[in-house]
Amino acid sequence: MRTLTELSRDSAHARQEQIGQNKGDGPLARDTESGTSQGSAGHSAAHESAIKHVTGRAAYIDDLPAPADALHVAIGFSPVAHGRLTRLDLDKVRHAPGVIDVITIVDVPGHTDIGPVFPGDPIFVDDEISYLGQSVFAVAATSYKAARLAVRLAVVEIDEQPIQLDPIAAAEAGDVVRPTHVQQSGDWQQALDSAPHVLEREQFVGGQEHFYLEGQACLVTPTEDEGVTVFTSNQHPSETQKLVAEVINVPFHAVTVETRRMGGGFGGKETQASSWACIAALFARRTGRAIRLRLPRAEDTRATGKRHPFHNRYRLGFDNQGVLIGGDITIIGDCGYSPDLSEAIVDRAMFHADNAYSLGDARVTGHRARTNTASNTAFRGFGGPQGMMIIEAAMDDIARHIGEDPLTVRKRNLYRAGRDVTHYGQSVDQHSLILEIIERLEASSDYWKRRKAIIEFNARSPIVKKGLALTPVKFGISFTAKHLNQAGALLHVYTDGSVMINHGGTEMGQGLHTKVCQVVARELGLDLAQVRITATRTDKVPNTSPTAASSGADLNGMAARDAASQIRERLFDFAAEHYAIDREGMMMENGDLVAFNRRIPWGELVQAAYLSRISLSAKGFYSTPLIHYDRNTGKGRPFYYFAHGAAAAEVEVDTLSGEYRLTRVDILHDVGDSLNPAIDMGQVEGGFIQGMGWLTTEELKWNAQGRLLSDGPATYKIPAFGDLPPEFNVELLQGHPNSQASIYRSKAVGEPPFMLGISVWSALCDALASLVDYRQAPRLDTPATPERVLMAAEALRQSPAFAPSVETSDDLA
Ligand code: MTE
Ligand code: HPA
Ligand code: MOS
Repeated sequence: MRTLTELSRDSAHARQEQIGQNKGDGPLARDTESGTSQGSAGHSAAHESAIKHVTGRAAYIDDLPAPADALHVAIGFSPVAHGRLTRLDLDKVRHAPGVIDVITIVDVPGHTDIGPVFPGDPIFVDDEISYLGQSVFAVAATSYKAARLAVRLAVVEIDEQPIQLDPIAAAEAGDVVRPTHVQQSGDWQQALDSAPHVLEREQFVGGQEHFYLEGQACLVTPTEDEGVTVFTSNQHPSETQKLVAEVINVPFHAVTVETRRMGGGFGGKETQASSWACIAALFARRTGRAIRLRLPRAEDTRATGKRHPFHNRYRLGFDNQGVLIGGDITIIGDCGYSPDLSEAIVDRAMFHADNAYSLGDARVTGHRARTNTASNTAFRGFGGPQGMMIIEAAMDDIARHIGEDPLTVRKRNLYRAGRDVTHYGQSVDQHSLILEIIERLEASSDYWKRRKAIIEFNARSPIVKKGLALTPVKFGISFTAKHLNQAGALLHVYTDGSVMINHGGTEMGQGLHTKVCQVVARELGLDLAQVRITATRTDKVPNTSPTAASSGADLNGMAARDAASQIRERLFDFAAEHYAIDREGMMMENGDLVAFNRRIPWGELVQAAYLSRISLSAKGFYSTPLIHYDRNTGKGRPFYYFAHGAAAAEVEVDTLSGEYRLTRVDILHDVGDSLNPAIDMGQVEGGFIQGMGWLTTEELKWNAQGRLLSDGPATYKIPAFGDLPPEFNVELLQGHPNSQASIYRSKAVGEPPFMLGISVWSALCDALASLVDYRQAPRLDTPATPERVLMAAEALRQSPAFAPSVETSDDLA
């Protein structure tokens, strides 16, 4: 057997091994050994921090040493969801043991609104309280315990007001955080009027708590000038730099923000890591001491926004084959109390209301409802998953209506030649690839054989019902805010030949730094071990975009490649002159510059260049070409390309208790020409499981007073080891490089697989539909907890179509 190091040199083999590994019959391509030597782009190099992660040496914010006199912060959160603050007496708080400083909004020297895109997020409550868990004041004390005890001594009087927790009512009343947006193609009304069949449905799609393992945390130290240095668990250091500077009222250059890694972000640290950094920075400037701020899990969960819950509706017309003619889709995002990123999130939901299907002549309307909860924010998929849920429900409904298998109806509706333009005017160039993925998965998962077996099983089994569903994903890659599609990098070569690369992206476990190191190693023909990345810092690469929209590697990989290729070309020029060799045909390979009749070791080359006073440092830059979107017309090409995938899930449902099990999952996912198959596999598996958790077990519950009851692991259930399907076959699609000129023709992988989890929801619907002989789709809102599954089963049993199956003796076996 070949060693893992050998395998990692050969990407095709590494991928095969990786696939074998998931079927349980091969070595782990992502074994740490495979990345220790070679491993440039395309290879299954181990995560750059893998060993540090598993040995506990990877430092998170709370692991950073702080000076002995550092202060600890606790926040006074609002105890009600809506009202006017009529009295705030903090005297007892100020005099509590260990308390050094207490601040409210009046103590802010600069901006008090820290809304990331639009105003609306006061750093502390001024007089209006908008949700339960909003920051009212903050305490800095000599110990964490002292700070927390002092917070309780506050006297807060509030004139409580009625709260709004219903986004439908809010949208109807015009109470929105941003204006409604409409996308339209053709005459949707005419499509409905002329269609032989019209169906409609409403659905509720639940939100999701990020449940990053490392909560919101930062450490802020004052600088010798007027500024601060901020260490923060944060997807968007540049935005935090800007907001901190504005809040403490200093120029941006006085604030440096550093993020080495996050213990998970998932979108929850794109905007919502900033307020904590701003509060800690205020204290750091006021006291001249280092400040630690970390939220306890329950407070973190109540204070920060989640994935937006959505209320979706469709009214769609289709022909006898179940092919869409057109219609009307309306989605209402529950944004919480302020805009945050909701404009772009509801837009992305609208952009994905078609998923992989041509809607025909359709109108898509997106409302941004204001409610008295924390401001909902980015979460893996950024609204896309919620938008897709409505069209996937429609596919199931149409299939039941015309009496065809849902997979048949899905395939008939896919984008294809002649039906290849989205409702927002972007053409889908790789539509044949979506069909190919589905057909390959259909074969590899034995879909039709299992379908037959399941129908037979269900006919004999009155209580336990099996379900199967195969659903596709088409996800648009690029920030829909065009200006964010840019990245920078800074590359240094030191005189021993070791390379340091920094870029604007942040590491949250997704393997971005590993991929960017691999890009540089490939450009310079070096061993991966010679290339290192340190913390992301605003003083190394400025004005960066958040690490989000799955485009971390696309953008920063390209910027790093730009920097590395500049160095390479500069060294080629130098070598041509210095060694008097032909510049044509020079290559960097295995740590040498290779020319026609010479090999010059990298270390020697770098030394010679240094002595000849050649700069060994370069900055790189990239901006995504071709993209544009006009919000006035609702038309454009917002996405550079689409990433695709498909999943087939099988479930077994006890229709008397609502309990169910996921028994088998097959996935085929498109990452173009993978930058790192091992990391991509991890993203596909993890994304799927997180998507499944969103749609099945993760339930957010607020009481009538607007208090989030599910504020920790005891009341909020994320998937655990035991929720993995016993049979989990995951493959990366081979042989289909990106059709666009992305970094080495790879595709973004961070978010798209999340939406493969929709297959589990659809499989549950399929199992339930067997109760009515597949003549009707259930209403199954999400998360489809056992409770909801049971209620859906009960509703079907009340329906005239209920078709009890005859129990046979082998059913009891
Ligand atoms: N993977 C891990 N392990 N942890 C995370 O927090 N965030 C996801 C995804 N995968 C996340 C993750 C989200 S929301 C995004 S947008 C992408 O990673 C961001 O990183 P990328 O652009 O480098 O893929
Ligand atoms: N995706 C993720 N994050 C974002 C986006 C987006 O499209 N736009 C702004 N922040
Ligand atoms: Mo990811 S939701 O774009 O941070």
